[in-house]
Amino acid sequence: MPGLAKILLTRRFPEAVVARALRDYQVTLNADDSLWQGDELVHRARRMDGIFLSSSNKFTADVIESLPECVRILATFSVGHEHIDLDAARHRGIVVTNTPDVLTGSTADLAMLLLLAAARRAREALEMVCDGNWSGWTPTQLLGIQPAGRRLAILGMGRIGQAVAHRARAFGMKIHYHNRVRLHSEQEKGAVYHGSPEELFQRADFLSINCALTPQTAKLINRRTLSLFPDEAIIVNTARGAIIDDEALITALRSGRIAAVGLDVFDGEPNLHAGYRGLPNAFVTPHIGSATVQARNAMGFRALDNLDAFFCGKSPVDKLT
Ligand code: 8YV
Repeated sequence: MPGLAKILLTRRFPEAVVARALRDYQVTLNADDSLWQGDELVHRARRMDGIFLSSSNKFTADVIESLPECVRILATFSVGHEHIDLDAARHRGIVVTNTPDVLTGSTADLAMLLLLAAARRAREALEMVCDGNWSGWTPTQLLGIQPAGRRLAILGMGRIGQAVAHRARAFGMKIHYHNRVRLHSEQEKGAVYHGSPEELFQRADFLSINCALTPQTAKLINRRTLSLFPDEAIIVNTARGAIIDDEALITALRSGRIAAVGLDVFDGEPNLHAGYRGLPNAFVTPHIGSATVQARNAMGFRALDNLDAFFCGKSPVDKLT
């Protein structure tokens, strides 16, 4: 019975989500939204049956091995799950769930915002006006790149990649992609498949990164692979920062070899590599891909659906372990 289960909410989650949790569980809240890690997480988990967490909480093998016996489920409020050591959870017999689908649209919207912002030099434009340096319209001011007719290369054609493709088609872009598994033709909708990331990068007038962070994708955008891109390509990342080697990308942005980037995620969050700060062609947002009221509520409800199923003795829809 969910009503008897004790749940720890590790962050301050949206109000509607907390209200439902309080209705259905015995809930322990994190009122001041502190970032609990390591021993503190383990300590807070005492007497809990389940933990409702976010990707900011690192459930490493050490943390999972130290969790009290009573903890039987970790429900993450995220689609990504690289902050949880799934093998360690499996070993302890702890169920892990995530929240796919419900943040697809908001993340794809943000990818388009970044793509357009990078292509249309939005950072320079904004700074010019806000810093009081705009002396008036000129015929050659802030000329950008128009996406129509250009190739958008999508790395990772899962739900979010396909949603980005759908939006980019409306901007007249031609879709190319690489995915571990080729899509069926009705899902491809005319997109051109490439068997390796390297082949894809050679066609990338624009690149949208939409794959998971895995040992294979870590630092996949590096000095060697950047040399494959057409001149003046634009790169957008709404997936995970560690897929990009920042030093290599910053060098390419400085030289103009890569025209611009739009990044919603970056390695070492929340600390942005200092090299991006002064670069007018780097448009960076603070991991807001799923930051809409609709998506965040839906993520919370999906995590609660998973907890409800588990505590009713059923298999949660989004069970990872
Ligand atoms: C989340 C995300 O907002 O779900 C994910 O994997 O990257 C984000 O959109 C964040 O991880 C919250 O836990």
